Amino acid sequence: MSRKIIIAGNWKMHKTNSEALQLANQIKMKTTDVKHTGMIMCPPFTALAAVADVVKDSGISIGAQDMCIAKEGAYTGAISAGMIKSTGAIHVIIGHSERRQYFGETDDSVNQKIKTALEFGLKPIVCVGESLEQREGNITSEVVTKQIKGAFAGLKPEDISHIIAAYEPIWAIGTGKTATPEQAEAVHVTIREVVAEMFGQQAADGLVIQYGGSVKPENAQSLLSQPNIDGALVGGACLKADSFAEIIHIAEKLG
Ligand code: PGA
Repeated sequence: MSRKIIIAGNWKMHKTNSEALQLANQIKMKTTDVKHTGMIMCPPFTALAAVADVVKDSGISIGAQDMCIAKEGAYTGAISAGMIKSTGAIHVIIGHSERRQYFGETDDSVNQKIKTALEFGLKPIVCVGESLEQREGNITSEVVTKQIKGAFAGLKPEDISHIIAAYEPIWAIGTGKTATPEQAEAVHVTIREVVAEMFGQQAADGLVIQYGGSVKPENAQSLLSQPNIDGALVGGACLKADSFAEIIHIAEKLG
């Protein structure tokens, strides 16, 4: 089954509104020729509406980087799924390792956020991945299996078609170290097997699984050529229009 390649950029806590507009405009201009590759930009909450406006007539869609479990209420500082949807964003990253590490995100909160996101018509990009210690302890497969089972508990097979999974080994995020294509492929296969066990082969075959962790133009081709690597979640290299557009064009040639 051929899956569409989807390249997403996670801007993290970068870019004021004017900087965000500039970057979004540059990326839009450099990707007007893209036909087959899915493109997503995830700016900070403060720039979502403005960036969504910039790309509304392009092939790029917008996502948030996190959301609150609750739909509404007295949660000072939090942002709900409905608020995100109202900006024009259609995706939301859930369970990024930085949220797990610094903000107490757990498999259970990831699961609840996914359910709320789906209820509001947002498409979650669900991140999983092991630490260096876990990889060295040879428990990568167990760790990722547990994260996927926890994240997707109680979902229906049809929910999977609205979800993107992202395998992001923590030791490769922002470190310049990338998983080898073979290491990443092996984990992507595990993720697909777990999803097949939970929701059936058809749901698993349709699931786009991105790799994330120091993806750059130099390594994108070898990673994206793997049969189960269906895209990339790009951090550092998405903050420059040239490198993000280059990764997208590499995907476009493979797609
Ligand atoms: P990186 O970040 O590309 O800077 O390693 C990836 C991510 O955290 O999504």
